[in-house]
Amino acid sequence: MALVTSKELLLDAQKNGYAVGAFNVENMEMVMAVLAAAEKTKSPVIMQTTPGTVKYAGLDYYLANVKAAADRASVPVVMHLDHGDSFEMAMKAYHTGYTSIMIDGSKLPFEDNIALTRRVTDACHPGGIPVEGELGRVGGKEDDLENADENPYTDPEEARTFVEKTNVDFLAVGIGTSHGVYKGVPRVNVERLSEIRALVDIPLVLHGTSGVPDEQVRDCVSRGICKVNYATDLRIAFTKGVKAYMQENPNAFDPKKYSARGMEEVKAYVMQKMEVVGSIGKAAN
Ligand code: 13P
Repeated sequence: MALVTSKELLLDAQKNGYAVGAFNVENMEMVMAVLAAAEKTKSPVIMQTTPGTVKYAGLDYYLANVKAAADRASVPVVMHLDHGDSFEMAMKAYHTGYTSIMIDGSKLPFEDNIALTRRVTDACHPGGIPVEGELGRVGGKEDDLENADENPYTDPEEARTFVEKTNVDFLAVGIGTSHGVYKGVPRVNVERLSEIRALVDIPLVLHGTSGVPDEQVRDCVSRGICKVNYATDLRIAFTKGVKAYMQENPNAFDPKKYSARGMEEVKAYVMQKMEVVGSIGKAAN
């Protein structure tokens, strides 16, 4: 089927109390592996690229890969811009044909974040493309984006105002997660999540989920998270598979051979996370 937007998928997830996994893809093999996991589990799926990834090959290359996956798929597939860092970047993704856009103004002062996000929703909505905004901070490092904020939590009242003023479709919240590899065991502030959910009635998004214990993710989904982002662990899984293959076959030189092992690792990881977020069998919804 053709690529779909994230709007219907996330509204269905919100209505029925599950979340859709959003997986960062870096190359064609990761796209193929994520799709294979989605097909096997009959899960709707979001594939996404950060501006750092886009710099590597270009929006058009990634879109072409994910579009090919969607065309072969029996499950709904979304192509999402993750952490769009400027109005221009968001517009480039929109015009290239991405079917879901994030504008991340979370580093800006509150009013400036509102203004930037509103500008993007005003530009994307007439074309039917939904927009994810971010308020509060997700810590850590996501490609080129680094965040070391002392107080990362989203304020629930601010969240309500932000959603009203920006007309945003989904909201990424800061509740204690970080991008990248955690140093200790992360502790997600689920009470804060529930406080936000009580005031904001749109799908909420969890970033920085690699390394968060599955039980905490399930708890977040039960409290209103409808999109769960995984990036770092997919990179680790792919690389682990490639390394294992090369250790066993040090003279190997065919990328198809060692990449196949990388894909197996990514597929297994993604299938397990689809179970955690509750999207298994939801493709038919
Ligand atoms: P992780 O790299 O921690 O999984 O974060 C993913 C993410 O939030 C992408 O936006």
